[in-house]
Amino acid sequence: MNPQLRDTLATYLKNDNDFRAIYDYTKQRFEVATELTAHNWEHVYRDVLNSIVIGETEGADMSVVLPATVMHDIGFLYGAVGPTHGAVGAERLVEYLQAGKITLSEAKVNHIADCLRTHKGSMHGEVPGTLEAKVVSDADMLEKFGPIGLYQTIRTYTEFNYPAAKVIERLNAFGSLSCQTATGRRLIEGQVEVVIEFARQLSIAYEPYYEEKA
Ligand SMILES: [Fe+2]
Ligand SMILES: [Fe+2]
Repeated sequence: MNPQLRDTLATYLKNDNDFRAIYDYTKQRFEVATELTAHNWEHVYRDVLNSIVIGETEGADMSVVLPATVMHDIGFLYGAVGPTHGAVGAERLVEYLQAGKITLSEAKVNHIADCLRTHKGSMHGEVPGTLEAKVVSDADMLEKFGPIGLYQTIRTYTEFNYPAAKVIERLNAFGSLSCQTATGRRLIEGQVEVVIEFARQLSIAYEPYYEEKA
């Protein structure tokens, strides 16, 4: 990832007061939610940088993409579990913004809510309807590929308390994941192999350690 992205993010934060308010408030909310060991601010921050690369290349409306990416996992702040967290985040968005004393137009709130609702994309069979929702989904999908994808996925399945067999089964299925935009597809090219190869080796190494069922 290009180190200049941090400067690009600083410029967006300087020029867009709504985005800065959302960024600061969300950072504060995730930093105190210490039970979210995978869906934490570090994850959100990486997604934001990913969304700049994908969103700018795709010509998306960054005034929607950036706040939506920052808030894409707020469902977890309301106790949602894996499969429902996008929908819960979308449902709680208005109350979340009110709690942060942030006012956006109704059209923008609805557009961002759609991005939250469908951000799992091919992972949960969701179909993002707008370019901005596709960008948010792809920025998050990059977190499943390559070395960072492997690192983040292990953290995620630890947060969910998955047993080893389920971790191996899930990692093995990553070959079927896909992105929504051409830029996302280009960025994940050749990157799933890291995860699949690890899953294959872990599957072999773990075999002697499965406990006999009583
Ligand atoms: Fe998510
Ligand atoms: Fe996420």
